[in-house]
Amino acid sequence: MIDVSKIRKDFPMFNNKTQQGHTLCYLDNAATTFKPYSVIEACNEYYLNDNANAHRGDYDLAYKVDKKVDEVRQKVANFINAEKIEIVFTSGTSMSMNMIAFGYGIKFLNKGDEILLTEAEHASNVLPWFKVAEMTGAVIKYIPLTDEGRLTVENLKSVLTEKTKVVSVAQVTNVLGFLSDMKAICKLVHETTDAIVICDGAQSVPHIKVDVKDMDCDFLSFSAHKMCGPTGIGVLYGKYSLLQKTDVLMSGGGDNARFDMCGNVAYLQPPAKFEAGTMNLEGIYGFGAAIDYLNSIGMENIESYEKELRKYAISKLKTLQNLIIYNENADSGIITLNVKGVFPQDEASYLNSKGICVRSGEHCAKLLKDRLGAGGTIRVSIYFYNTKEEIDQLYEALKNGGDFLDAYFN
Ligand code: ALA
Repeated sequence: MIDVSKIRKDFPMFNNKTQQGHTLCYLDNAATTFKPYSVIEACNEYYLNDNANAHRGDYDLAYKVDKKVDEVRQKVANFINAEKIEIVFTSGTSMSMNMIAFGYGIKFLNKGDEILLTEAEHASNVLPWFKVAEMTGAVIKYIPLTDEGRLTVENLKSVLTEKTKVVSVAQVTNVLGFLSDMKAICKLVHETTDAIVICDGAQSVPHIKVDVKDMDCDFLSFSAHKMCGPTGIGVLYGKYSLLQKTDVLMSGGGDNARFDMCGNVAYLQPPAKFEAGTMNLEGIYGFGAAIDYLNSIGMENIESYEKELRKYAISKLKTLQNLIIYNENADSGIITLNVKGVFPQDEASYLNSKGICVRSGEHCAKLLKDRLGAGGTIRVSIYFYNTKEEIDQLYEALKNGGDFLDAYFN
């Protein structure tokens, strides 16, 4: 059970008012989430008490940081049921996806090989593959979605061939919010092809229990800032044998044992081989605290609370005749809509004037517009600290969302 009024006291952002003097009604959690005090304090802890580099120093202070990095890596591994050595710290999901595309895709894909994506993917799971296709001659194909925009195993079957070498899809898509059955997808791909499955977990790992062993994906990416952690830190999970085969996208200090003037390089074993340069250490401290915080609430509780709140939101918003809801049956806290006849950015500005924060536009998923029949949408995205009262506030604002110009001048 979630005691939301107690939880909200953990987040300093709820003490802030908007420029118009409203209490913040923050419904843009798919973009980023608020951070609890414990995460902010953990980041400060690094600067106040532990400010040394990692994996380079031979003194106590540096050793303390090394130990912390190791400890947080283990926490992350436990969180998704991986092994510690399978967790690479990156700057976030986009970086992780690029590391797979450039480190694995460029190395192993050949002319005519097929990369399967969907039109619901975020730019960071499309654009790197465009580059891989351009550089290798591989071909990108799109798995057809159902009429409402879901990825199903049946639809995947219809395009999976012996030429398929990569299937890269989001577990929860960032605009339509549908949850794909990744376990069934991985099973089908692994049983029928030698392709790898890459799971974009940016919108799933913060909200549901993800178990990479059970899912059997080959790679998984996610970001700390969408799960109460700091910005600029995220994860690339990979099965260890795949991480060993994958080339580095970025190299430099800390990722090698030796190199010589003939250009020979002996890289360290993963994960170190992928972590060149000074890492985002305060981010790692904060990320550890974020995982502790989510664990203290319980991912099952988070999932069921969000489901309930979504149900409540849909039941209310559905009654408004002036709305188009694009994903009424989605499985996540993402609700995508438009107010009939109103440009989404204008609507978002109107909601802002009421203290409500939502995202508007194409949400980086620019292949979706034909399917939606809309150049842009309003995206409402909830987290476990949102309340029914905030949904009511959104409902009241959207009720008059079509005549906002009048509302402005009233
Ligand atoms: N990827 C984030 C979103 O979908 C920023 O909003």
